[in-house]
Amino acid sequence: MADSGNPDYRDGGLEFAPDFVIGSATASYQIEGAAREDGRGPSIWDTFSHTPGKTWNGDTGDVADDHYHRLEADLDLMKSLGLEAYRFSIAWPRIQPTGSGPVNQAGLDFYGRLVDGLLERDITPIATLYHWDLPQTLEDAGGWVNRDTAYRFAEYAALTTEALGDRVHTWTTLNEPWCSSYLGYGSGAHAPGRTDGAAALTAVHHLNLAHGLAIPEIRRNAPKALASVTLNFHVIRGDDDEARRRIDALANRAFTSPMLLGRYDDDLLEDTASVTDWQFVRPGDLELIHQPIDVLGVNYYSTVTVRMWDGRGAKTVNDGHKDMGGSPWPGSRDVEFLPQEGPFTDMGWNIAPDGLEELLLSLKEQFPQQPLMITENGAAFPDRVVDGRVPDADRIDYLNRHFTAAHRAIAQGVDLRGYLVWSLMDNFEWGYGYSKRFGIVRVDYETQERIVKDSGHWLAEVISTRRTPGL
Ligand code: FCB
Repeated sequence: MADSGNPDYRDGGLEFAPDFVIGSATASYQIEGAAREDGRGPSIWDTFSHTPGKTWNGDTGDVADDHYHRLEADLDLMKSLGLEAYRFSIAWPRIQPTGSGPVNQAGLDFYGRLVDGLLERDITPIATLYHWDLPQTLEDAGGWVNRDTAYRFAEYAALTTEALGDRVHTWTTLNEPWCSSYLGYGSGAHAPGRTDGAAALTAVHHLNLAHGLAIPEIRRNAPKALASVTLNFHVIRGDDDEARRRIDALANRAFTSPMLLGRYDDDLLEDTASVTDWQFVRPGDLELIHQPIDVLGVNYYSTVTVRMWDGRGAKTVNDGHKDMGGSPWPGSRDVEFLPQEGPFTDMGWNIAPDGLEELLLSLKEQFPQQPLMITENGAAFPDRVVDGRVPDADRIDYLNRHFTAAHRAIAQGVDLRGYLVWSLMDNFEWGYGYSKRFGIVRVDYETQERIVKDSGHWLAEVISTRRTPGL
């Protein structure tokens, strides 16, 4: 920990270097709408959200922020905030409606317009190839439990990067494969909603493989672009070493070890031996997965606190995710997730900027040569509109404290390249539908009107002055 500054991370007037990139992020299914237009095929999130009981209020991404039709105005909005970079994702089912076969030109053209629109406005495009909207046809063939999906992904990555090339500054293979595998196939909280621990671990490997197969395609088609992956790290608290080790293995090292070190750790294989024998890892896979990346994307929101469950009394499962019947922790169902100290955001997630500093320092220690970028950080709060303004002081405070954490990490030698706030605008928050607002821009879902929240003005000031405002 840095030994100067406020203990609560409420510093002000912190300076960021001119090349530290500050921007904002979104994802295709959460904002685009136009779910059945221009040849887009259905994704697992269309199917899941249209299944009764899966999302809050039965909300779907059919219309979302209608960004698909409001592209130009949304680009102007980004420009008005002065964003230096914009992280978006590409919907695979717009490019290949059934997950294989030729490109759907109309779908591809949308992203061409987006990338060109960003470049015209001097905003750096950071594209994610997979932010969870798997073509439904591929799920029907087994989804991420089917090894073939990794090869289909590499093909999709090749087609997309061939078309957009290094007009995109940074190509990210996957967003949070932890969620795709463990929430999608283990807990059932995310699409496709399966609850099978062995399937979840199989998906982990095939997502890792998909990443490894896609990186060479990016290198070939976009030689000047940076290649990356974004992971949601779990910052794990508690006095119980065994519980912490187990959750670290499942949540963090299941991805970082194969991708960055070329191995699955023995303790992960042992902890999950009752669930699977990992025979789905074929000879040569780890060499394929272990690809150098230029920047590691870090998503951080809050911490977890764990301990081994003694089997007495009810087990607490406060891991920050919706309970949909299954477990996102295959082989570790006897680990408890304890309630944590507040304050909390509207997601019920604890606010812990020290966790971000700790995470960045730990990544530097584990992977000293690896540049990092915060690809998501932000907070949901129940905003109010007052006289045409959104006075979201709680979100500004959250962001200020996490910018402080990032600044302290940089001061301690972390090679942190930038910070992208989640999210540019309120949007479809997966299982929580439209009930949670993460935007620095408010969206009125009846009229699609956008109002820049006070936090949006705050971020614009940080970008233009290169410093957090004084307190
Ligand atoms: C992350 C997701 C992102 C958003 C935030 C709140 O896990 O990547 O799409 O939902 O959480």
